[in-house]
Amino acid sequence: MAILKIAKMGHPVLMRPAEPVPNPTSPEIKRLVADMIETMDDADGRGLAATQVHVNKRVVVFRPPPEDPSRPDDRDGPVLALVNPEITPLGGEMEDGWEGCLSVPGLRGLVPRYAKVRYRGVTPAGEQVDRTVSGYHARVVQHEVDHLDGVLYPVRMKDLGLLMFESEFERFLDEGAAPRAQGRAE
Ligand code: NI
Repeated sequence: MAILKIAKMGHPVLMRPAEPVPNPTSPEIKRLVADMIETMDDADGRGLAATQVHVNKRVVVFRPPPEDPSRPDDRDGPVLALVNPEITPLGGEMEDGWEGCLSVPGLRGLVPRYAKVRYRGVTPAGEQVDRTVSGYHARVVQHEVDHLDGVLYPVRMKDLGLLMFESEFERFLDEGAAPRAQGRAE
């Protein structure tokens, strides 16, 4: 395994759509996913897309919250790797939440996302995934799949006045000037 270099906003690899993966269970993809998980954890992220590590393939890893209603605030569930993920918004309702991104280091922004989505994909072990999720889980999936389409979260923001440095973000929340953070997606 290896820790990979993370591309930062402005790098062309973050701006172009990634290619579908013909064989999601290949050793090459398994190795890529292992390296992406190691890279995400090393950077203390909650999600990572292949484009962020200079690989133009439709692969994401993230940690959805555990499906345990007694632990609603625990965001560090088991990691999920998805190849060729697809998202279908459900219901059309949008909600705002704070996001950060390993490719946009040091910043946070308030981003509208679909409140509820269905996502599908296949794992490197060949398992089909088909889930309907909401809240933070829906947000992190939308953030990661956006990366595969060359979209970074500031593009989704309605008010760039709510793009801020993490140090100021803490003060912003302390002063009660913003909706509470829903969570952090990478
Ligand atoms: Ni990101």
